[in-house]
Amino acid sequence: MEKPNVVLGVTGGIACYKALELVRLLVQDSCSVRVVMTREATEFVAPLSFQTLSGAPVGTDLFSLTQESEIGHINLADSADVLVIAPATANVIAKLAAGIADDLLTTVVLATQAPLLVVPSMNVHMLAHPMVQANIAKLRSAGYHVMEAVAGYLACGYEGKGRLPEPPAIAEEIRRLLRPKDLSGEKIVVTAGPSREALDPVRYISNRSSGKMGYALARAAARRGAKVTLVSGPTALAAPEGVTTVPVVTAEEMRAAVLAEFDSATAVLMAAAVADYRPRSTAGRKMKRGDGNRRVEFVPNPDIVAELTARRGRQVVVGFAAETESLVENARQKLHRKNLDLVVANDVTQEGSGFDVDTNAVTLLDRDGTVTPLPVMSKDAVADRICDWLLQHREHSHRRGA
Ligand code: CTP
Repeated sequence: MEKPNVVLGVTGGIACYKALELVRLLVQDSCSVRVVMTREATEFVAPLSFQTLSGAPVGTDLFSLTQESEIGHINLADSADVLVIAPATANVIAKLAAGIADDLLTTVVLATQAPLLVVPSMNVHMLAHPMVQANIAKLRSAGYHVMEAVAGYLACGYEGKGRLPEPPAIAEEIRRLLRPKDLSGEKIVVTAGPSREALDPVRYISNRSSGKMGYALARAAARRGAKVTLVSGPTALAAPEGVTTVPVVTAEEMRAAVLAEFDSATAVLMAAAVADYRPRSTAGRKMKRGDGNRRVEFVPNPDIVAELTARRGRQVVVGFAAETESLVENARQKLHRKNLDLVVANDVTQEGSGFDVDTNAVTLLDRDGTVTPLPVMSKDAVADRICDWLLQHREHSHRRGA
């Protein structure tokens, strides 16, 4: 979708101010955003703030002659690729559940064919009220997507569930709704991050993997409708929305977590940087400083991806190759040695590629001998290209098998 149209409904709760940040994120993400505010929302934040951030007129009044000719409720409803209500108050949720259309926003809701995302935010007792819960259940059964409010400190002074999720989490959910669901039916296991192998209770050996590539893959596949399990070594990244994340530390733990999912998986994307060796033994207590050198003996870790391909049935297995020289040659060897369907190779010495940056420059090598070098692009874009490859691979196999 070139420039998706997001219609954002803002209703009168204190979390309105967070909707401003949401607009900024969506605009930054190349969405065109049209904001519709209820009268109550305008008591919290001036429409001018939303207008300035979205760069478009804000709808507030169904019966304003100027607004109706400039914006038009049916035009808004038809142009939406997704309609989001954030924050959604108990009042608007009740109106939606009853099919009431007594203002611009609720009228647009009934008139649109676009997917609807409702993001409730209110006082903890209001949210827990059986009437509100029944209304939310009704919206879900009508096919509306309802995000869970999060727990924490509420503006009304209470602690508990009722907070609006942070704007990046809402933006991610919107992206997910906007993607074509071309990977639905896939169950994909993604590994990410480094493994960590302990020397003693306070020291370990590891590597510089940040996990960014694997997390981008998990997000991209989930947005495109796949059921995703992310097996993640230690990283500083937040668990992606809509993905089951299994945290692990060592290569052995990663192996066990991946094998537990493997039989039911349709594809495995091994983006993790697994340590090839671990110390033969881990000291039970902190090793003390001594005189002279210290020797540590290392034993090999299992090669997880090679083990997967040795036992695979219908699963597609994708490996990664981080290289510092002879990129294509080394990656090709890995493809054959590990019997992979695809290798995603990157030269970690190249600028804009490799560890802890948001971009990557990779070359895709598949079993048919096709070598596809991709330019430097965001890890999110690389993740989408890998998902595209998976889709094409499925179509080819389907044609060959048919
Ligand atoms: N891999 C794995 N288990 C290991 C090591 C690596 O599953 N113990 C996977 C990685 O997740 C990656 C692929 O194998 O998808 C290639 O990893 P890499 O470290 O480049 O391969 P190695 O076989 O370790 O080769 P090298 O000698 O270059 O380190």
